[in-house]
Amino acid sequence: MSSKTEFGTKLGLIAATVGSAIGLGNVWRFPAETQMNGGAAFLLLYILCVLALGIPVMLAEFSLGRGGRSDAVGVFRRLSPGKGWWIAGVFAVLASYLIICYYMVVAGWTLEYLFESIGGGLYDSLYSGEPAEALRGTFPAKMDDYVSSDLRPLMFTFIMIGVNIAVLLGGVKKGIENLSNVLMPVLFVILIAMCFVSLSLPDAGEGVAYFLDPDFSKITPRVVINALGQAFFSLSLGMGILITYSSYYPADTRLVRTSVIVSLLSLLVAVLMGLIIFPAVKSFGLDREPLEGATLVFVTLPEVFAQLPWPRLWSSLFFLLLLVAALTSTVSIAEVSVAMMQDRFKMSRRRAVLTVMLPLLVFSSACSLSFGSLSDMKIFGLTIFDLLDTFTTDILLPVVSIAVCIYMGWFAPKGLLTDELSNHGALHSRWTGPVLFIIRYIAPVMIALILIFNYI
Ligand code: PHE
Repeated sequence: MSSKTEFGTKLGLIAATVGSAIGLGNVWRFPAETQMNGGAAFLLLYILCVLALGIPVMLAEFSLGRGGRSDAVGVFRRLSPGKGWWIAGVFAVLASYLIICYYMVVAGWTLEYLFESIGGGLYDSLYSGEPAEALRGTFPAKMDDYVSSDLRPLMFTFIMIGVNIAVLLGGVKKGIENLSNVLMPVLFVILIAMCFVSLSLPDAGEGVAYFLDPDFSKITPRVVINALGQAFFSLSLGMGILITYSSYYPADTRLVRTSVIVSLLSLLVAVLMGLIIFPAVKSFGLDREPLEGATLVFVTLPEVFAQLPWPRLWSSLFFLLLLVAALTSTVSIAEVSVAMMQDRFKMSRRRAVLTVMLPLLVFSSACSLSFGSLSDMKIFGLTIFDLLDTFTTDILLPVVSIAVCIYMGWFAPKGLLTDELSNHGALHSRWTGPVLFIIRYIAPVMIALILIFNYI
């Protein structure tokens, strides 16, 4: 069954993997983290973490997936039967499932904002003749209305669940791969167009300097840990996604090359987003407010667009970009559970997709309502949405990544990594030694520090 499923083309498998890696993590989490952690110095650390730790751990996940040719739980069972390692896979599936529950809600908001941008609802007072200045104060209230009213965001979340079901039912090649082939170029075209607009604004240079001119005195242990966390999240590590996708890679796919392309494109998107956001925010004097995740994209940027000629056009393009980023990520993360259902419980594709996705109608609703009528329901002092976010990113993802590193570094069948990186001897791979060293000694320790720091 899934051992015969493969991506159809090299470009397609890269588009799908890049599509997973490029998500809300690059588009909004990255600029917000950059601002919170002091600007350019954070960018440098993030790049360093992606190159020195992210790529080796990605290669560990790729080798595990293609070597084991199964889902995130099945790979461990096949490679090390009778040992308890499959529990690491269960954690990966659990993490991925809890993440979709709330990520789907955010994907729903992006659709809602796209809809309101195209329809003009987001900028309505602009069209009733008021100056752009007067519009400024209206966005927080609009966000409140769009995000925390009960019914509207639910409706958009349901639409996103439906779209995901349609893509997943299409299968790996016809659904996921084709979707990514079309959407990834769209994403890059929009990004580059918006970059030009932002860089041509008055005083854009100051924003660029903030983003690119590092002040090393800003680096603290906390900043290093945040950069590492951001690198892992934005590369989709620790979620079982890369294990699942690489199980669909043909035997002649060059893993090292693929990991480098995927990581560099993911970095590129983060950098382009920085070049869009910081100049724009500086140029309109909006840089004094903290660019927290949700307010950055749903309040600050609409304020920027309102000052530009054709606000609806830029706003629609931006939310389309966000929607593309979110959609190619949600299908990838849902595929983790779908693949597991197909492999483990021998379900048909259709049955697996429905079994995984239909319960989201309830779980994602709870996350969505935690901004509305369930906002008072707190568990450990957190709303349902925040609880899932914190539990997955602060605990489950690092735990899974550490387990993958320790397994691939010390316990996997001998030669697995070498065989996979060299395509069973067909390629000469000088990277096996350094990759092995990093996943054995450096990455687990660094990731453990994230866990410990988050406790403190
Ligand atoms: N790299 C993805 C992102 O930046 C991580 C992710 C993938 C998150 C899939 C959720 C779902 O958003």
